[in-house]
Amino acid sequence: MALERTFTMLKPGVLSRRIAGEILTRIERKGLTIRALKMMKIDRELAETHYAEHRGKDFFTSLVDYITSGPVVAMVLEGDGAIAMLRRLCGPTKAEEAAPGTIRGDYGMHTNLNIIHASDSPESAARETALFFKPEEILDWEDGNHGWI
Ligand code: PPS
Repeated sequence: MALERTFTMLKPGVLSRRIAGEILTRIERKGLTIRALKMMKIDRELAETHYAEHRGKDFFTSLVDYITSGPVVAMVLEGDGAIAMLRRLCGPTKAEEAAPGTIRGDYGMHTNLNIIHASDSPESAARETALFFKPEEILDWEDGNHGWI
């Protein structure tokens, strides 16, 4: 499987509910490598650019309201097949469809208060990474675990 990088964001509810550590632990334990990580407050312009494909949908304004309502944790993760792997770890977007054991299934009751965003394709991952990170913020480093994960 090809080595990939993906973009993910823990949404404002995560820091508010003090569960950032739990979500990060799941990501690390799975074996994905954190290449970049930062806490930030997103302005409406960046939020609207990030979610541009959803402009015009009935939930667009509430989606932007929510993501700009408090700090988020943005990350670039790397691993074999990382894009699909992270999406599987998160579970389906709709709260009622996300199975227990997935991040969304275990931590969310409502789709509009979804707790994690994960890129859905290589193109989205590249576009979203470039919106949130400068190239020099994405670090190459080795954890010595290659043989295990
Ligand atoms: S869709 O309907 O397939 O275009 O949408 P989807 O790809 O499933 O979701 C895109 C993001 O929109 C969020 N979303 C919502 N926010 C607020 N209210 C409602 N009803 C709603 N439905 C979907 C959803 O959480 C996705 O956010 P991200 O950050 O990408 O997970």
